Amino acid sequence: MTPETQTVLGLETSCDETAAAVVRRAPDGAVEVLSSVIASQIAQHAPFGGVVPEIAARAHVETIDAIAGKALADAGVGFADLTGVAATAGPGLVGGVMVGLSFGKAVALARGLPLVAVNHLEGHAVSARLGSEVDYPFLLLLVSGGHCQLLAVDGIGACRRLGSTIDDAAGEAFDKIAKTLGLPYPGGPALEKLAQQGDASRFELPRMLLGRKDLAFSFSGLKTAAARIAEGLSTDAERADLAAAVQAAIAAQLAERSDRAMAAYAARHGGRDLRFVVAGGVAANRTVRARLEAVAQARGFSFTAPPLAYCTDNAAMIALAGAERLALGVSDPLDAPARPRWPLDEAAAAAAPTHVPGRKGAKA
Ligand code: KG4
Ligand code: ZN
Repeated sequence: MTPETQTVLGLETSCDETAAAVVRRAPDGAVEVLSSVIASQIAQHAPFGGVVPEIAARAHVETIDAIAGKALADAGVGFADLTGVAATAGPGLVGGVMVGLSFGKAVALARGLPLVAVNHLEGHAVSARLGSEVDYPFLLLLVSGGHCQLLAVDGIGACRRLGSTIDDAAGEAFDKIAKTLGLPYPGGPALEKLAQQGDASRFELPRMLLGRKDLAFSFSGLKTAAARIAEGLSTDAERADLAAAVQAAIAAQLAERSDRAMAAYAARHGGRDLRFVVAGGVAANRTVRARLEAVAQARGFSFTAPPLAYCTDNAAMIALAGAERLALGVSDPLDAPARPRWPLDEAAAAAAPTHVPGRKGAKA
């Protein structure tokens, strides 16, 4: 353990946000976000209905310098005040990951600072700690655009996969169904907005994997059913009803699996350390948050979600993951690779991959 205050510059470039942040972590674990700057590329990708990797990588190259400079200025610190640099090293679009990681390496080399090559998913895993104190261990539902997993988190770098999606991620389901409803990218927030005016009970949607006793998720059947219904809709009121039904179905599946995971987790932990955390972009969805909070309460778990601003991709969570690693005396060499795929529980991903591994390696 290094009993010193960590002041870390975090860099995030794994998808369509160029982000930089400065986070301070006291030796007692208290966290302060000194700055968090996010430059969204939504306007550049929107005409294509999704993220175009080459456009993303180029935009990161063009803005990373200014964004990092602004994060330092907003925080009122200079390079000399930093104790480390943390950059997302994967998983994500590798052209973008390389931009932030190379920038981080350059800062580390020039200023003689330790580098932490952060797993983006570990960033999400610690993101709830940016708003509240959450001790380890905890049960985590990670729901983002690329991942949908239940994990037992014993500490930084110590995650056990309990269950994962067998097809789409929850955010991916939101995005794809939003597209069939004619909503703009990114679909999740747009679908949530439309659903506010809808009646979730008008359309019957399939309940996925009902009867399965494990903690797997699946959204492909829901996606197909919603697309079929969407084709026959003509009014905005009907589309709002379908949006509400889809949102309710996704929230119900997340709640049902989380409930089962909580029961097993409580038994394994002898009824102690009952903490439930939800993180990732989909944790920004109010219906999802409310359903999960109700389940946690009924099971006697504390419930924590990150502040809304830290649910979707940001660099504060990357800086914090870096600070926690540095506090444990862990850093990475300057030749740390950018990794398109990088499961949190690498042993489980290797033994039982949820997707065909392919040339990039196992996804989750
Ligand atoms: O964590 P994140 O920003 O990026 C990844 O690491 O994937 O998650 C982005 C995902 C997208 O699929 C987006 O549509 C979804 O989170 N999302 C939402 C909401 N806000 C973001 N889904 C439903 N409701 C929202 N309010
Ligand atoms: Zn993310």
